[in-house]
Amino acid sequence: MQNTKNNSKLIYIMDFSLTEEQIMIRDAARDFAQTELLPGVIERDEKQEFPHEQIKKMGELGFLGMMVDPKYGGGGMDAISYVLAMEEISKIDASASVVMSVNNSLVCWGIETFGTEEQKQKYLTKLATGEIIGAFCLSEPEAGSDATSQRTTAEDKGDYYLVNGTKNWITNGNTASVYIVIAQTDIEKGHKGINALIIEKGQEGFIVGKKENKLGIRGSDTHSLMFTDVKVPKENRIGEDGFGFKFAMKTLAGGRIGIASQALGIASGAYELALKYSKERKAFGKEISKHQAIAFKLADMATEIECARHLCIKAAWDKDQHNNYDLSGAMAKLYAAEMAMRTTVEAVQIHGGYGFVKEYHVERLMRDAKITQIYEGTSEIQKIVISRSVLRD
Ligand code: CAA
Repeated sequence: MQNTKNNSKLIYIMDFSLTEEQIMIRDAARDFAQTELLPGVIERDEKQEFPHEQIKKMGELGFLGMMVDPKYGGGGMDAISYVLAMEEISKIDASASVVMSVNNSLVCWGIETFGTEEQKQKYLTKLATGEIIGAFCLSEPEAGSDATSQRTTAEDKGDYYLVNGTKNWITNGNTASVYIVIAQTDIEKGHKGINALIIEKGQEGFIVGKKENKLGIRGSDTHSLMFTDVKVPKENRIGEDGFGFKFAMKTLAGGRIGIASQALGIASGAYELALKYSKERKAFGKEISKHQAIAFKLADMATEIECARHLCIKAAWDKDQHNNYDLSGAMAKLYAAEMAMRTTVEAVQIHGGYGFVKEYHVERLMRDAKITQIYEGTSEIQKIVISRSVLRD
C-alpha cells in the first residue's frame, strides 16, 4: 500500500496481498495453535494453569520477539506478520496470546526502541528468544486509566532509585523475570516526573503478590507486585530522567495493535466455531445455517471481523511505514474489542445450550473477549485518544 498527496487529499493506492513470508508466518502460527495450544486449553482455563511448555516452544519458534532486530535474537519481522500471528494464536488460546503480546509489544519494543545498548545486550537478547519473559507494570490500585496518577515512587538517591509502592493486575506477574516499572520520581513535575525502570525478579524488597482469579484469559498469570525500598541502579532507567510517562504512552500505542489483533483472533475463532456448528446442527428440518435468523448473524459477524482485520492491518502498516499509529492503533483496538464482545456473544447464542458449556469453546472465548475492552486502555480511553486526534485535525 502506498500513499500519495493529490490536491491536499490523501489517496491510498491499495495492495491487499500478503507477502510469501507473511503467509508462511500466519500458517506457522495457525499450525502451532492447532497442534500445541488446542490440546489442554479448556483444562488450563479451568485450573488457571500457565501454558509454560507452550510458551517455551513459542519462544523457540520466534513468536516472542517477532519484530526485534535479529542482532538481538529477534525475528526481524514486520508488524503485519505480528498481527497475523496474534490472530491465529488468539483464535485458540488468548491466554497464550496475551503473554506474546506483552512480551513483543510492550517489553521488547520498549527496550529495543528506548533502551541503552547495555540494556539491550543484558535483557533484550533473552526476552526476544523467550529465554525469559517480561512484564509491563503501569497499573496501580488507584491509577489505571489515569496513568499520570502514579503512587509508586522512585526516589532519586544519586546513583540509584529507591522504589516503593504497589502495582496491580500485572500480566506475567509471576512468570516474568524482567519488569518494566513506571514510577513517580518528582510529583511536582506531573507526568514529566515519571520514570520507567527495569527491575529484576529476586531483587531485595520486591515481592510478587496475590494471583487474580479472573473471568477470562485464566491461563495467564496476573498478579499484584509489592516494592519496598528496592534499589534500582540508574543504568536501569529507560530513557532520560522524566521520560517514563511518554515511554508508557508510546509503548502502549503499539501494544494496542497487539491487543486489537488478540480481539480479532478471539472473534474469528468464535465465528469459525459458530459457522461450523450451524452447518451441522439441524432444527425444524434443516441445518440452522439455512434459517435466515442464523445466516444473518453469520453475515454480520463475518463483515465485522473483516472490518477489524483491515483496521489491525492498517495500524500495523502505519507502524511498518514509520507513520504515527496512535490513531489507527486506538481505532483498531476500540473496534476490534467491541466487535469481539458482540461476536462471541452471538457465537454462544448460535450454539444454544451447547454454547453454555465448556466443551464447545465459545463460552471461554466470550469470557476472554471481555478483557480486550479493558486492558491497555479501556474502550473509553481509546475514544479519548481518537476524539482528541479528530478534534485536533
Ligand atoms: N506518544 C507520545 N507522547 C504522548 C502520547 C503518545 N502516544 N500520548 C500522550 N503523550 C504525551 C503528551 O504529548 C503530553 O506531553 P506534553 O505535556 O509534553 O505535551 C503527555 O504525554 C501527557 O499527555 P496527556 O495530557 O494527553 O495525558 P493524560 O493524563 O490526559 O492521559 C490518556 C492521556 C490517553 C488518558 C492516558 O493516560 C492513557 O492512555 N491512559 C490509559 C493507560 C493504559 O492504557 N493503561 C493500561 C495498563 S497496561 C496494560 O494493560 C498491560 C496489560 O496488562 C496487558
